[in-house]
This record gives sequence, C-alpha cells and structure tokens, in this order.
Amino acid sequence: MKEILIKAEHEYAVCVGANWRETVTEISKNYSKVLILAPRVIVEALGLKSLESKSLAIFTLPEGEDQKSAKTLEEIWSHCAQISLTRKDVIVAIGGGATTDIGGFAAATWLRGIDWYAIPTTVAGMVDAAIGGKTGMNTPAGKNLVGAFYSPNSVCIDFSLLKTLPKREIQAGMAEVIKCGFISDPQILELVIDYEANIEELIERSIQVKADVVSVDFKEGKLREILNYGHTLGHAIEKRENYKWRHGEAISIGLVFAAELGQICAGLDREIVDRHRSILTRFDLPVTYQKMAFEELLGYMSNDKKSRNSKLRFIAISKLGEPVWLEEVTSDQIALAYERICT
Ligand code: GLY
Repeated sequence: MKEILIKAEHEYAVCVGANWRETVTEISKNYSKVLILAPRVIVEALGLKSLESKSLAIFTLPEGEDQKSAKTLEEIWSHCAQISLTRKDVIVAIGGGATTDIGGFAAATWLRGIDWYAIPTTVAGMVDAAIGGKTGMNTPAGKNLVGAFYSPNSVCIDFSLLKTLPKREIQAGMAEVIKCGFISDPQILELVIDYEANIEELIERSIQVKADVVSVDFKEGKLREILNYGHTLGHAIEKRENYKWRHGEAISIGLVFAAELGQICAGLDREIVDRHRSILTRFDLPVTYQKMAFEELLGYMSNDKKSRNSKLRFIAISKLGEPVWLEEVTSDQIALAYERICT
C-alpha cells in the first residue's frame, strides 16, 4: 500500500492499494458508532448488510445523481438522528462520486461536522470526486451549487472494487485520468495505451496529480482550476443532456474542445490536439457534438458557476503538462474551436 498525503484544512492520506473491508474494520475499532452510506448496487455487491450490528448501521442510497438531492440528505439526517449518531461517531461513504459527494456533505452538516471516510468504487471517484474535499449536493438551481469543502479523515483506494464496474463505466472514468496526463503528467498518456495492464499505476498517478494541486490550492483560488480542463464545455453538455450521460463522456468532448482552443489561443501543437482525439476514441469516448447545439451550450457556459460576470474563462494547455488560463477568449475563437469539434 502507498500513502499519498493531501494537505487541506487537515492533512490526510489517500491509501492506494488498501483493502476496503480491513479499512471498515479499523474504523469500527476507533469509533463507537459507524454509519455506512452506499447505493443499493454496492450494498448488494459487497454484502454490506452482513456487517450490520449495534455499532454499525447501513443506509442505502438511491442510485446515480438522485442520491445528491435535498430529499436524500434529509433522509440521511433523519437516520443519523434515529441511530443517535454523535460528534464522536463517523460516516463512511462507499460508492461512486455521487456517494462520496453526498456522504461527505452529510458528514459536514450533521452536528456541524463529524468525521468521515471515503471509499470510492469507480475510476472517476478514485481519481477525482473522492480526492480534494469537495462535498455537495444538487438543487433545482443546478448541480453542485450547494456544498462544503470538507476533507475526509482518509480515502481508501481498493482496486478490487473496480471489479464491480461495467467496462463502459471504467472507460468513462478514464477521461479524468487522460485529463491528468495532458495537464500535468504526460507519462499517463503512454500508460493508457495498455490501460488494463496499467490501471493501478494510472489511478495512482492521477491521484498524485490531484493531491499536488489541492495541497497548494485547496479552496480553488487559482491553481486548482487546472483540474477543470475540459469541464467548461463538458458541464454544458452534461446539462444539455439532462445529466443522462456519464460525466466522463461529456468531459471527453470538452477536452477536445479545450485542446482546439489551446491551439487557437495558446499555440498548442496540432499533433497534441489530435492526440486528445486518438487517445479518447481508444476508450470509445465521444469527441464531437451537434453543430446546432452551439448557442444553447454557450448560454449554459456563461451561467456556469465558474464563469465570472458572465465572462467565459477556460483552462487550456500550451504544451503537454503546461496549463494556461484563458481569460480573454473572443466569441470568434470559441466559435472556431466549436466548429472543429461539431458534426
Ligand atoms: N473536480 C475538480 C476539483 O475537484 O476541483
């Protein structure tokens, strides 16, 4: 097992190559009461019900983004009250990104904050959602508009959990891994060629990229924005698709768009732009989007919580591993980049 340390409001370890069952046993020894939050598919796949006892409760969450609703959060709080979860007790969130987001936010809000542990079960959860202390929920006003920076006590990365996933889910998660390759660690772009053989190293390297960024800029003053490479257009596509697409599928298109913008605004080599396409398509990820959607996407991008005064800002790269902040992109440049990715 390897520990990757993250410095945030407190220092904590991401335990890469840990075992989820041993982690839960260890946590149970250190707290008088444990509340495990997990979606049904994980409760069943891991046989979590067999762990239930007087000191360990399981709360089954709905699947997907539904678990990040006010209704689910209220149900979690009610359950916390029902089992008398105190400030000395703990929440353990086992699942994909939606589970660790809502689990962390439940921990941040119950009794004004109790300890919590993240055990991500998807690639995207392992390399992104569970790393970096962003917790939150969705509201009718938008995705992730309510939340807290609230780091876990530790994150357990158990590679055996990936066996619970369909191949499609793993492939979508690779979009975040590939993003880490382009913004910071180009070795990732070599290793993805044989991703099945290299999956553990790819996940570890991507966690290291995020850990290094978050440890310098936990509250997203500036550096952490590089993690949003591909996300400005990606988020707009997710919204236009009513959040029915996997996050990584929308981010894949966003990455190619950001690469084209980098070529137009920051002199990125054409060969590296094309490398985005060739790597993402190896994972059957989409790299084009509908021409007629442009105006609508532009509207969503302007309303994104990361735009400032409706001014569009993008993260691009000027070379492999060299992110740039594009603050003054003209509408012609945006339209040209979109022209190159649309069908
Ligand atoms: N997913 C981007 C971040 O955690 O900042």
